[in-house]
Parts: sequence; structure tokens; C-alpha cells
Amino acid sequence: MEERLKVLELEKPEALWLDGSDLRTSLRASPRRIPSYYGYDQRGSEIFDAITRLPEYYLTATELRLLRTHAREIAELAGCDWLVELGSGSARKTRALLEAMAERKPTTFLPVDVSKEMLERTAERLLEAVADLSVIGLIAKWESGLDWVRENRAGPCVFAFIGSGLGNMLADERDLLLERISDACRPGDYFLTTADFEKRPAMLETAYNDPPGSDLWGQFRLNRLHRINELFGGDFALERYYEYCHYNTVTSTIEARIYASEAQRVRLAGLGMELNLVRGESIVVDYSFKFRRPELVEELGRYRFRVVGEWIDGLKQYGVFLARKE
Ligand SMILES: C[S@@+](CC[C@H](N)C(=O)[O-])C[C@H]1O[C@@H](n2cnc3c(N)ncnc32)[C@H](O)[C@@H]1O
Repeated sequence: MEERLKVLELEKPEALWLDGSDLRTSLRASPRRIPSYYGYDQRGSEIFDAITRLPEYYLTATELRLLRTHAREIAELAGCDWLVELGSGSARKTRALLEAMAERKPTTFLPVDVSKEMLERTAERLLEAVADLSVIGLIAKWESGLDWVRENRAGPCVFAFIGSGLGNMLADERDLLLERISDACRPGDYFLTTADFEKRPAMLETAYNDPPGSDLWGQFRLNRLHRINELFGGDFALERYYEYCHYNTVTSTIEARIYASEAQRVRLAGLGMELNLVRGESIVVDYSFKFRRPELVEELGRYRFRVVGEWIDGLKQYGVFLARKE
């Protein structure tokens, strides 16, 4: 197994987190915000995995079904033997695609993720399950992962950014990442992405809030404060916050926020900063933009990605898009 697995720490664990400059800026922004990758330590990743199994959270099941049903077609259309996945997590959704690619020819999977434990576990599981697969795991933020691939790639690549990840970014952040992905691609490479579509607000709010009897979303969102306490010597008192998710129909965006249930002063010794929160003040922990199909196709076109395949579920809730770099 060893020869088939290489794990490269492009950034040391300290560099992934410790300078916290992004967090300092985002906590001072208006609205205040905690970047979503602070949510995915081992505990956060496990809770999120449990969320994806809630029946109300239709996104994962729909995406999995689409990817599993059409994996061969996607592999055939792209014809590549390298798959780079940004934010691979458990790679539960990419597995069918890797199997389909490896059936055609020996394939290399390059997961890029900040979570070392998750990446190593995922790689080992995949290598056990899929013959003709090698893994080069990149422990890195997306940007440095993409830089590495640009310098070290061999054959034509599919770059995957799935899990409706583009929707989790604000428009200017999405622009920057699409530009980086497009720069890492050569003409003839492919970009595979997925998107959740605009739909009734009630359905979205049901999917993104806890159903009766569950506290998974609550734990997932508040875990971010716990993580920041750990990383930056903070004193967020978790019991003095609650969380709720609202769909903003003006911006077509799900906004998940943590609210201060009373006025409080928070110290983050490691960042040399203090926050004064008034009662009811919120911190955004996740955005999830809901696309309209033509807008997404047009947006991809701006980065020289031409959609060559798309697979949408029968209820028109969710789409998988394969685009070719021109
Ligand atoms: C919600 S999970 C998605 C996993 C998988 N793509 C899926 O759709 O099921 C997000 C993953 O991206 C990773 N991640 C988030 N932000 C990242 C960043 N800026 N750079 C690298 N990895 C990141 C997290 O560690 C986590 O494993």
C-alpha cells in the first residue's frame, strides 16, 4: 500500500492555523464572520458527516445519487487519469468517480485538505477499496494545493470542487478561487462542480436547521467557537450563544449565524484581540448561495470553463456540472 500512497504536508499544521490573520480580519468585519474551515477539526467533520445523513438535508443524498449514477459517463467524457479534489473530506462522493476512472486506466487521486487525520484515513480507505489507484494527499489550503499541482502534474486533470462548495463563498471569494483553479488548469483539463439551486425558503431553512430531537447543527456551529478557544486561547463561553440559520431571499443565500444571548466581552489572547458583543449580535459561520443554472453556466464561462455535461435531479433541486477548460 505504501508505494501507492504519498502524503505531502505543503503547509505545517501551525501554518494552517496559527497566524490567524484571516480570523482577525473576519471577526472585525461587518457582519462578523468565522471562516468555514475552522469548522472541520475531527469533531466538526464527524458531526457534519452525521448532518449529511439527516433526511431533511437533501443535498448530500441528491449529490451522491447523481455522482454515483453518472460516474462512468463523467469518467468517459473527461478521459483523465488525475483527479484533484479541493476539500476532499471523506471523499464519499468522489469514490464512485474514482472507481469509474480507475476501471478505464490507472488513476491518481490528489485530495487537498487542511485536515490531516481525515485525509490520511480517507486515502487508506480508498486504496483498500479501489485497485489501480494511487493517492498523493496534499495537506494544504486550496491555493497552495493548486500551486503544487500546477508545478508537478503529469497527465490531464479533472479538478473537483463539489459538495456545493462554490455556494459557500461570497461572490468575490468565488471569483478568486475560480481564477486560481482556472490558472492551475491547462486547456483540455476539466472542472467538476456541483450546485444547489434556488428553491422555497421553507425547504431550505428546514434543511439547514435541526429537526426536532436533533442538535447536530447546533453542535456543528458552536464547535467553531470551541475550536477557536483551543487554537487562539479564547474564552468564548459556548453556553452564552445560540445558533440559527435563515434564508436571505434578496441575496439567495442561506446565512448560518451564532448569536450572543447577552452582551459579552471575549478575549482571544493568541490573536491579541478583544471582541465586545452586544446582546443579540451575530457572527456568520456559513453562507450557502443558491444558484440559478444559467447564471452558474455563465459564471463558469467567465473563467474559460465550457460546460460539456450536466446532470440535474428529477426535482430540479441540485446539479452536477462538468466543464472543459478552453
Ligand atoms: C464540507 S467538507 C466537504 C467534503 C466533500 N467535498 C463533500 O462534498 O462531501 C469540507 C472539507 O473541506 C476542507 N476545507 C475547508 N476549507 C478548506 C481550505 N480553505 N483549504 C483546504 N481544505 C479546506 C475541510 O477540512 C473539509 O474536509
